Amino acid sequence: MKVGVVGVGHVGLVTAGCMAELGHEVVGMDDDAAKVETLRNGRVPFYEPGLQDLIDRGRSSGRLEFTGEAGEAIAGSDVVFICVGTPRRHDGSPNLSYVQAAAASVARHATGPVVVAEKSTVPVQTGERIAQALRLETQSRGGGAGFDVVSNPEFLREGTAVEDTLRPDRVVVGADSERAHEVMRRLYAPLLEAHPCPYVATDVRTAELIKHASNAFLATKISFINAVARICELAGADVHVVADAMGHDARIGRAFLNAGLGYGGSCFPKDVEAFVHIAGELGYDFGLLRETDRINAEAKGWPLRQLRRLLWNVADKEIAVLGVAFKPGTDDIREAPALDVIDTLVDEGAKVRLHDPVALPHVKDRYPDAVFCDTAEEALRGAHAVVVCTEWDEYRAITPQQLAELLQYRVVVDARAIWDPDALTAAGLTVASVGRPAPAAN
Ligand code: UDX
Repeated sequence: MKVGVVGVGHVGLVTAGCMAELGHEVVGMDDDAAKVETLRNGRVPFYEPGLQDLIDRGRSSGRLEFTGEAGEAIAGSDVVFICVGTPRRHDGSPNLSYVQAAAASVARHATGPVVVAEKSTVPVQTGERIAQALRLETQSRGGGAGFDVVSNPEFLREGTAVEDTLRPDRVVVGADSERAHEVMRRLYAPLLEAHPCPYVATDVRTAELIKHASNAFLATKISFINAVARICELAGADVHVVADAMGHDARIGRAFLNAGLGYGGSCFPKDVEAFVHIAGELGYDFGLLRETDRINAEAKGWPLRQLRRLLWNVADKEIAVLGVAFKPGTDDIREAPALDVIDTLVDEGAKVRLHDPVALPHVKDRYPDAVFCDTAEEALRGAHAVVVCTEWDEYRAITPQQLAELLQYRVVVDARAIWDPDALTAAGLTVASVGRPAPAAN
């Protein structure tokens, strides 16, 4: 089939690559001329494991192309995916003007019946707005192609986006016509053949809600365990053992019960707020999600509270920060909890020594006075304390002895629980490990 993808950011580019992998002919389009140029030169503009290979395969098969011209992606396509950004407004609602512009562009360039598929995460009832945008533009041109709007949410995680897309837990398609369902079933047939999984066919509104409900639920799971972590610290228990034991209950499951620095990234913070907002507009006060958000903000303040307890003033102290990406396996710093930590450290006059295996270039402008370190060892050397913000594997390999030798004051604030606190204490370090009883300051 012929597939157009409007917006080749993280979601759009993975979608384009995977659709080509499934055997479809794909044209990815973006307004960002520099991004298109990079892609045409064969390079993926951000870090995502496996994506470069996928794009290389698509391009060399001749089934994947990139363009800055909307018409080239839309004309002749059976399905056009809308994968444009939905940035957050001040009131927490997503700005959907790029979605409307993409829909209008589809109406302008379509040459035959097109299924317009929302992939961008959008509030329930956006499908109707997209249909309205298509109608307005079509009418203004005195007629045009026929459109079906479908909601086909993605559930891909950064770092495993290709795998999540080609081998998903489920495919969700919301459509309000049998024709659109039929087109989408054909589109996904090669994927379902290679990797059988539930295909959930619903109406558009239900599919939109499935996406928001899924992300908000996962975010709530994280906030729940972070709240339990606070209680464990106060009561003298270990949240990680609690989470493991809870996880053995198949009704609960262990995934997304890692207590730490809270959730960040381009999805959870935005989606939780957007879900609260649309619920409010519809007349329901989603207090549970407001609390999820509040607990997340509190989790991000945990390292500074520990540093104050263990160091007293942080002004003029050298603090090594390990990890700035919002999670391991990505160079994405959008809403990374580490940034909240570093911002407050800088505000308080601390001198920060930053390390991250891949994300450092993205924070160079934000922290002009920080020391950017090529290795974790360099960040640690001579620092008064270390804060672990992202649980990269390479940090797990650092031994208590190395920490004791490299740090000036032997203070460890482990906000991702990557190190064994007993081993650290035995090596003479003072350690605050998230979700575990607070040691006495020495
Ligand atoms: C998420 C959803 O998982 C995905 O289905 C959706 O399509 C997009 O949003 P992503 O943002 O890539 O994916 O990251 P994810 O792995 O879900 O982690 C999100 C945040 O939660 C990270 O900051 C991570 O560190 C944090 N997290 C995750 C925890 O703090 N504890 C956990 O147990 C799991």
